[in-house]
Amino acid sequence: MLARLSNKHILLGVTGGIAAYKSAELIRRLRDAGADVQVVMTAAAREFITPLTLQALSGNPVHVDLLDPAAEAAMGHIELARWADLFLVAPASADTLARLAQGIANDLLTTCWLAASGKKAVAPAMNQQMWADAATQVNLETLKSRDIAVFGPGSGAQACGDIGAGRLLEAQQLADLCADQFESGLLSGTHVVITAGPTREALDPVRYLSNHSSGKMGFALAEACVEAGARVTLIAGPVHLPTPARVQRVDVVSALDMLAASAAVVNDAKAAVGSARTVFIATAAVADYRPAQVAAQKIKKGLKDDTLDITLVKNPDIVASIAEQADKPFVMGFAAETHAVEAYACDKLARKKLDLIACNDVSRADIGFQSDDNAMTVFWPDAQAHEKVARVELAKAGKSQIARELVRLLAARLTP
Ligand code: PMT
Repeated sequence: MLARLSNKHILLGVTGGIAAYKSAELIRRLRDAGADVQVVMTAAAREFITPLTLQALSGNPVHVDLLDPAAEAAMGHIELARWADLFLVAPASADTLARLAQGIANDLLTTCWLAASGKKAVAPAMNQQMWADAATQVNLETLKSRDIAVFGPGSGAQACGDIGAGRLLEAQQLADLCADQFESGLLSGTHVVITAGPTREALDPVRYLSNHSSGKMGFALAEACVEAGARVTLIAGPVHLPTPARVQRVDVVSALDMLAASAAVVNDAKAAVGSARTVFIATAAVADYRPAQVAAQKIKKGLKDDTLDITLVKNPDIVASIAEQADKPFVMGFAAETHAVEAYACDKLARKKLDLIACNDVSRADIGFQSDDNAMTVFWPDAQAHEKVARVELAKAGKSQIARELVRLLAARLTP
């Protein structure tokens, strides 16, 4: 279980019922597995367990009120909903299940539920007769039909003295089920090689040319590919990010280093799983040019020099070189554009012989470079489509969420 939820954002919704006390243990189990946990409580939940307890255990302020200006200023309900990779309501009372099924948004928990775009799950807990009631079962079916996971309930002795179905699953079972949600198996048997971050092109021992890439998008993809069952090698330029669990990392500095590492790892992957099960994803913002000469010593400022001329030479195109291989793997590129986004992306798709290209508008401050969010338009060749290119828009969401959607698109286009 260790680290199966590392870097995952879990929003835990706690509703009113005697099982609410178990949410304390659940938070501990989720955090033990590496998750960052935020809690939202209904008014009824606060009759059973205090926000202070859950705040101490989660290490985050507990969210209780939809109309609290101070809480909204710190992290608004839309932001909280968007933050969540998984929104788990546990325990989920019969009343809350009914409101979720109906789409009623009359408190913070139900409003966040409607606004959340990540995965969703409920862990019901109630009296066995309430659980068996036709209305509850219809609500459950409605939620399931919307791809909402239902964890449990278990059976046994109940707080009210009844015996039957309706017990909240144990905390460890719930934490394991949360981790399972991120493992789709969509990329089982594949080896995915991902480039991420910027490259640095040395000018002299103390200076370099580079760009604003933080590596977040590539690292999120590495995690999403691991979740989907792939073996993942991440070739990372100089970034300040921890290596995601179960990812093999190769650190590089320059575009030439990245090219050499990419070629070597892709060749090993093809030898191990075959080219049809090897995937190359080029998320890195590779410097297009590097200084023609790297000075052996620090370039000194001449007293009379107001300008400095540097000759740059073109770097090799890493993704194009992989896509040119005779037994090429599946190749997905990225396009960072500031204008004419679609035209440039489609040009790169064709010119670099890519199987898929994900394009982001890096002129926007709220997505793209450095941001935790992104929004993308994805294109791929399609003989049946208008202008022989198919496209899908991925609306603004956290990079983890975008990465999972990219994995789904990629998996659908891989030869079985
Ligand atoms: O790292 P973050 O802060 O999270 O930001 C994410 C991102 C904006 C860097 C990412 O989403 C993104 O857009 N990556 C591609 C950046 C880029 O260099 O785009 P480009 O349009 O210049 O290049 C097109 C493609 O060719 C890319 O897949 C790039 O990796 C690849 N390329 C480019 C030049 C080169 N010499 N070799 C390459 O492989």
